[in-house]
Amino acid sequence: MAAARVPLWAVCVLRVALATVYFQEEFLDGERWRNRWVPSTNDSQFGHFRLSSGNFYGHKEKDKGLQTTQNSRFYAISARFKPFSNKGKTLVVQYTVKHEQKMDCGGGYIKLFPADTDQKNLNGKSQYYIMFGPDICGFDIKTVHVILHFKNQYHANKKSIRCKVDSFTHLYTLILRPDLTYDVKIDGQSIESGSIEYDWQLTSLKNMEKASAEAEGWDQAAKDKSQDWEKHFLDASASKPSDWKGELDGDWQAAMLQKPPYQVRSGTIFDNFLITDDEEYAENFGKATWGETKGPEKEMDAIQAKEEVKKAQEEDEDDMLMGRFSGRENSFKGFHGRNEL
Ligand SMILES: *[C@@H]1O[C@H](CO)[C@@H](O)[C@H](O)[C@H]1NC(C)=O
Repeated sequence: MAAARVPLWAVCVLRVALATVYFQEEFLDGERWRNRWVPSTNDSQFGHFRLSSGNFYGHKEKDKGLQTTQNSRFYAISARFKPFSNKGKTLVVQYTVKHEQKMDCGGGYIKLFPADTDQKNLNGKSQYYIMFGPDICGFDIKTVHVILHFKNQYHANKKSIRCKVDSFTHLYTLILRPDLTYDVKIDGQSIESGSIEYDWQLTSLKNMEKASAEAEGWDQAAKDKSQDWEKHFLDASASKPSDWKGELDGDWQAAMLQKPPYQVRSGTIFDNFLITDDEEYAENFGKATWGETKGPEKEMDAIQAKEEVKKAQEEDEDDMLMGRFSGRENSFKGFHGRNEL
C-alpha cells in the first residue's frame, strides 16, 4: 500500500514541475505592485489605476486588483516578464475582469507585446502579438476579442464570441495549442474552440502565399514557407519580435502586458493575471482565485441590493409625506393667485 503511494506522489511532483509560469499577478502585496507595473506617459490624458476590491467583493484583500478611476479615459499600463517562446507548447493567457459599474461602453482586454516595446510610451498603436478580452459598447458590441498578429497583420476571430455584461467578476481564459487548436473559456467553461487556422482565416492567407509563390515557380520555397508558418505561428505569438519579420534568430527580450485603452465609465477591476504553458495549472489557479471568491461576491452584492431597496422604500415614504404637504401649498397659492386677479 505504502509502496503504491510513492509513485503516485512522484507523478504529482512531476506534473507540477512541468508547468512553466511566465507571469502571475494577484496584487497581494499592497502598494508594491507599483514597482512591477509601469503606467504609460505617452498621453497625459491616460487615466490612473488604483488598487481596489471595489464596492462589493468575495474577499476584501484577495479581490484587490487594478481599478480604473476616471471616466471617459484611455488606460495603458504594463508589466514586464521574462521572455519566453511558446514554440511547440501550449500558451494560456488568463485573467479576471469585473465591470462593477455596469459598463455601457468600454474594453476590458489585455495585450501581449514584443519584448522591445517601450513601456513608458505604450499607446493604442503599439504593435502587439495577442489581444484578448471583452469589449462592450451599447447593445451591439458584447464581444470577446481574440486578435492575433501574424506576418505584419492583425487577424480577428471570425466566430463572434459573446462576453459577460453583468457587474460580477469573470474569468477569461485563452488557450492556444501547438496543434493549432484553441479554446476560449469564460468562468472555466469553454465557450468557443476549434482550429486557429480556420477561425482566424489564416488558411486562406497560407494558400494565397502558396499560390502566388507557385505561380512564380517557387514550388519548394512555398512549401517550406507554409511549413514554416505552421511551425512558427504560435512561436511568433509571444516571443521574439524578430519572428514576426520571418527571421528565426535574434535576441530574446522581455515581453509585456498592457491594460487596455479604455473608455467611458471607470470602476473596472483587473486581477489574477496568469500566463503559463499548462492548461491544468491555469484551471487550478482559476479555481483557487476566482472560484473561491465568486460566491461570496454575489452574496455581498445581494445584501447590498436588498439594503438599497429598503432605503428606496423609506425614501418613497418620505416623498409621499412631503408630496402631500407641498400639494396643499400649491392649492393655497392657486387660490391666492385667483384672488389677486
Ligand atoms: C507617443 O507615442 C507616439 C508613437 O510612438 C510618439 O510618436 C509620440 O511622440 C509619443 N508621445 C509622447 C508624449 O511621448
